Amino acid sequence: MKILVTGGAGFIGSNLCDFLLDNGEEVFVIDDLSTGSLENISHLFDNPRFHYSIDTILNAKKMEELISWCDCVIHLAAAVGVKYVLENPLSSIETNILGTEIALKLSNRYNKKILIASTSEVYGKHTHAPLKEDDNLIYGPPSTMRWSYAASKLVDEFTALSYHRTKKLNTIIFRCFNTIGPRQTGMYGMVVPRFIQQALRDDPITIYGDGKQTRTFTYVGDVVKAIYLLAKGDKGAGEVVNIGGQEEISIADLAQKIKELVGSKSEIVFIPYEKAYGKDFEDMMRRVPSLEKLKSLIGFVPETSLDEILAKTIEYFRALAT
Ligand SMILES: NC(=O)c1ccc[n+]([C@@H]2O[C@H](COP(=O)([O-])OP(=O)(O)OC[C@H]3O[C@@H](n4cnc5c(N)ncnc54)[C@H](O)[C@@H]3O)[C@@H](O)[C@H]2O)c1
Repeated sequence: MKILVTGGAGFIGSNLCDFLLDNGEEVFVIDDLSTGSLENISHLFDNPRFHYSIDTILNAKKMEELISWCDCVIHLAAAVGVKYVLENPLSSIETNILGTEIALKLSNRYNKKILIASTSEVYGKHTHAPLKEDDNLIYGPPSTMRWSYAASKLVDEFTALSYHRTKKLNTIIFRCFNTIGPRQTGMYGMVVPRFIQQALRDDPITIYGDGKQTRTFTYVGDVVKAIYLLAKGDKGAGEVVNIGGQEEISIADLAQKIKELVGSKSEIVFIPYEKAYGKDFEDMMRRVPSLEKLKSLIGFVPETSLDEILAKTIEYFRALAT
């Protein structure tokens, strides 16, 4: 298959490119390098089945050319990360809503299957677990800009589902829960790379809020496998499906675990949300996915343990630091 990966120079995208090429596919990437980097894909430049364009998904002409060549589109390009979105509110909405509309419109024009990356953020302020794809969504007001990321991804979901209903477009929306592993950067507010880098430097490990908020973490290798199985399979058209990990942990316990695994002397400190993100922030206290639907669609769910994922990620950052 010829597969277009938008955002292919990013964290999940570049790991997906590796996985697709290992499975014999031909890969096309479009990325504007706003949060991704050429370093993530430079090891692929000599592969004749790998092609890349440094351009924006808002360039409809370029997108048309790429989509017309490919059999399937995996749309990952987006403004990502709480910190990034709070700092770039307008361009983030433009990328996430207009960019996805362009990808969907052209996939429909050329009748290509398209998978759309959404996020567990769309669930909003739930505290129950596990979160199922048909749960209600609970948001704060638009004056709290933090919700704009979730809302923009939700608009993407509505748009994709509308293309499926009205045009029969073969589209699948996958909601990623916190994904971690090699190549993720801590620059845009991602918790695990930030904690690991702080621990490796023996700097204070900074927890935002009281640390009682919980998350599950998914290994990027499991996420890209799930995305590939959804792309290859014949189930899931017009569906929304969670992709996430299974071990729930509080952020305070995560900080302690990372400190121990790194063997760090860091102290663990708590910083009020307002100081970290300004007043436009509100956290989600719990985020645990139901994986029943994913299992029914592809017969696979992420299973790498948190200890194993953290060990791989620490090893990656240790190598980078030397
Ligand atoms: N990492 C996670 O935990 C997580 C969780 C939920 C959802 N997601 C979703 O997964 C996808 C990939 O996220 P990631 O974690 O790999 O982040 P990332 O920032 O590493 O990847 C996004 C990529 O998109 C590119 N991009 C941004 N705007 C673009 C534009 N206008 N044109 C072309 N390229 C553009 C960036 O340069 C980057 O390479 C995103 O859609 C994100 O919303 C990720």
